[in-house]
Amino acid sequence: MSTLRFRCSVLLVAALSLTAQEKEYKPKEEKLPGDPVAQPIAYSHKTHVAMGMKCANCHTMPGDGFAATFPKETMCMGCHATVKKESAEIQKLAAFAAKKEPVPWARVYKNPDIVWFNHSVHVKVAKTECAECHGDVGKRDILFQEKSLSMQTCMACHAKHEAPNGCDVCHASQ
Ligand code: HEC
Ligand code: HEC
Ligand code: HEC
Ligand code: HEC
Ligand code: HEC
Repeated sequence: MSTLRFRCSVLLVAALSLTAQEKEYKPKEEKLPGDPVAQPIAYSHKTHVAMGMKCANCHTMPGDGFAATFPKETMCMGCHATVKKESAEIQKLAAFAAKKEPVPWARVYKNPDIVWFNHSVHVKVAKTECAECHGDVGKRDILFQEKSLSMQTCMACHAKHEAPNGCDVCHASQ
């Protein structure tokens, strides 16, 4: 009898601490689809992907593969030193390249710092298509948030693929 009562109170404590954790998490507000994100240069994915350029040509995921990364301006200038060099947009690009400064692209998808996310694991190990998390980027002139990146979305896909879902998997620093 006393063992039973003991077990019940352990369960109760576990249940209470779970509710406490759930209360700490306020679901992030996401507007889907999001508004078009204004960029410093009118770069179009649609134009460049239609020419046959691949996502991985520009988003190389170097090193540990955490970031997809943005292409270097010298890479763009490989074509634009000659292609459309009279265009005002290309002149902005050329000015950044000449100063050896990265174009300050505005971010479309961004996790808070407490989240641990690695592109390589998802793209190369789990074989997830870019489109599953970013939508049909290759058809867009200007990007906007198309897919949810909320904690529930991450966890639902992990559950579906039997990937780990403990808090410390995505919040390793907690
Ligand atoms: C499982 C979901 C998922 C997949 C698959 C995915 N991404 Fe991402 N992507 C994210 C998340 C989450 C962020 C925000 C990361 C952050 O803020 O740390 C992001 C950010 C980015 C960024 C900007 C920041 C950075 O990481 O350098 C680029 C560019 C990007 N993704 C491109 C791609 C491309 C290209 C592919 C396919 C090769 C791809 N992503 C596949 C979820 C994904
Ligand atoms: C493989 C060659 C190539 C690379 C690399 C390339 N572009 Fe282009 N880009 C083109 C071509 C070709 C066009 C013209 C397409 C058209 O108008 O039909 C173009 C068009 C553009 C335009 C529109 C110019 C205008 O005024 O019409 C911008 C802006 C642009 N590119 C930016 C970039 C940026 C930024 C990068 C690097 C991230 C880049 N490009 C990389 C070939 C390239
Ligand atoms: C010619 C180079 C180039 C190619 C090819 C390219 N991208 Fe990009 N990508 C860029 C540049 C430059 C930006 C920043 C400007 C913008 O957001 O439009 C960007 C931004 C992004 C972002 C937004 C990142 C963020 O969170 O701010 C995503 C997602 C993305 N690319 C995915 C893709 C996918 C998926 C493909 C293939 C279908 C692809 N890209 C092909 C150059 C490229
Ligand atoms: C499209 C489905 C999908 C989505 C969406 C997704 N993941 Fe994953 N994730 C996976 C799969 C599958 C694995 C297991 C990969 C493997 O086999 O190791 C994984 C593994 C991970 C890992 C463990 C990686 C490691 O370093 O061992 C982390 C951390 C992670 N995901 C974080 C996230 C975060 C954060 C988000 C949301 C921003 C997210 N994931 C969204 C499918 C997804
Ligand atoms: C598969 C990845 C993943 C797992 C597992 C996960 N989280 Fe998250 N968590 C996220 C992402 C992505 C965000 C940011 C987006 C959002 O707020 O929805 C987040 C945000 C949070 C925040 C809000 C932080 C802030 O910026 O205010 C809290 C609190 C949190 N998580 C707690 C937890 C707890 C507790 C668990 C275990 C029950 C957990 N998380 C498991 C991905 C994950």
